[in-house]
Amino acid sequence: MIFPDLSRRAKLVEEMDRPDSPEDRLFRTLAQFGPINRHFSRYRTLLRRYVLSDMTPARPGRLLDLGAGGCDIGRWLIRQCRQRGLQLHITAMENDPRVARYAQAACRDYPEIEVVAQDIRDPLPLEEVDYVFANHLLHHLPDQTCIALIRQIDRAAPRRYLLSDMLRSFWAYYGFALCTAPFFRNSFIVTDGLASIRRSFTLAEVRALLQAAQPVTPVTLHQLTPYRFAVIGGRCRADR
Ligand SMILES: C[S@@+](CC[C@H](N)C(=O)[O-])C[C@H]1O[C@@H](n2cnc3c(N)ncnc32)[C@H](O)[C@@H]1O
Repeated sequence: MIFPDLSRRAKLVEEMDRPDSPEDRLFRTLAQFGPINRHFSRYRTLLRRYVLSDMTPARPGRLLDLGAGGCDIGRWLIRQCRQRGLQLHITAMENDPRVARYAQAACRDYPEIEVVAQDIRDPLPLEEVDYVFANHLLHHLPDQTCIALIRQIDRAAPRRYLLSDMLRSFWAYYGFALCTAPFFRNSFIVTDGLASIRRSFTLAEVRALLQAAQPVTPVTLHQLTPYRFAVIGGRCRADR
């Protein structure tokens, strides 16, 4: 759409969320999440600052990755841990059985990652983990589900939780179109990426979600370049 309505969160179904979407395009989309995340998501900065810096070789960590997709982020994190002599177990939760199957195959050399086919609305193993992470999940969920999820994670008080996603704006929308359309073909990256931005949030909307969730751990909301936000919470105060 050339002039989409960006004044409010759009109610759209992304191609990758359709159970009958072509599997070859779905799997190419998951493979292309790697470069997309690397260039746009800022996950490396976030995970270095709030997870890796919090871990020590003496204390093995457990991380729950909600809506993990193809697990490219989890695999990067495990490689970082291996290099630093840190032990981390990741539970990668994904509700689409086709995506979970793809992720299981992609993680075959990563015994530290357990892929679980489960909806995040079902009971979460929050008492068993130190860190909770979700990248690009919140925009898939209606506001009330986001609020309930944030409240549930926060009440479980893991050491840290990191929820990151895109900010909805004119520049994010057209910038994403310009940066991706020439390079990402035969996948849902461009169409779903643009739909994701339309489904995503403004900073004021994220603040409203946090206000409704009433977190009890110290929570900070960060704006990141390019057109992103991250909610950082948990019982270990993160001042940076
Ligand atoms: C945009 S993708 C992001 C994947 C990954 N986190 C990343 O950053 O590359 C969102 C993922 O969340 C999954 N998802 C959406 N709703 C979910 C739910 N209710 N429970 C579990 N996973 C969900 C989708 O199937 C999809 O794989």
